[in-house]
Amino acid sequence: MADTEELPKGIRKYSTIEEVPTEISKYWAQRYDIWSKFDEDIWMTDEAWYGVTPEPIAQRIAEHISYAPSSKTVLIDAFAGAGGNTIAFALSGRWNQIFACEKDPQVLACAKHNAQVYGVEKKIWWIEGDIFDVLQKRLKHAAKNAVIFGSPPWGGPTYADFEVFDLRLMQPYSLSDLYTAFSALSNEVVLFLPRTSDLEQLVKYAKQGEKLKVVHYCMRGASKALCVYYGSFQCG
Ligand SMILES: C[S@@+](CC[C@H](N)C(=O)[O-])C[C@H]1O[C@@H](n2cnc3c(N)ncnc32)[C@H](O)[C@@H]1O
Repeated sequence: MADTEELPKGIRKYSTIEEVPTEISKYWAQRYDIWSKFDEDIWMTDEAWYGVTPEPIAQRIAEHISYAPSSKTVLIDAFAGAGGNTIAFALSGRWNQIFACEKDPQVLACAKHNAQVYGVEKKIWWIEGDIFDVLQKRLKHAAKNAVIFGSPPWGGPTYADFEVFDLRLMQPYSLSDLYTAFSALSNEVVLFLPRTSDLEQLVKYAKQGEKLKVVHYCMRGASKALCVYYGSFQCG
């Protein structure tokens, strides 16, 4: 481990590749692509490495989401993880209010701490809980003026094994679960999904006459993931 510093439960810091569990070594090797301030005391749980959005991609997404209608002044990050996207949203300066929801307290502690490293911790309202409850019980009103962004877990069959990934099989939340819950509260919903996601399934949820935007986000020339933009975004 990196040093003798007391870290909260679940948070792991490694100083050499030999210490890193094999399953996450490929992510750790890209740590400076993921966090430009990695050496300034970024916190991660082992689990959080799988889902964190690399900083250059998070910045591009934040830029694209900023083209939401000006009436949208609130951003809800439904699955905040270790804060990759939330921090980029806060750094963009576009939002009057940002809510970041995460159900795992250890991962939420990472997100808060990482936001501090980037100087934006106080610009974010942090909520520990299940986003489906939180939206109903705490954010229903705020959601009307919000873009809801969701970077859900991509569990279930391994998406990379399929040329076209069936979003009905994504676990624990299918495309239908996510779209139904989020679009009930806001017209502007953005989902960060596997690059192989079935576009025909995505299109099914577009409103009649709506031109759906789907953007692939690449690093080193290869698509890492895509975002689908439901609602009105005046970019491109
Ligand atoms: C793919 S990660 C998000 C990564 C994040 N965008 C980042 O850049 O760090 C998904 C996160 O959603 C959390 N999660 C799963 N189900 C949730 C729920 N119902 N409510 C809130 N958070 C949830 C998981 O604990 C996990 O940290």
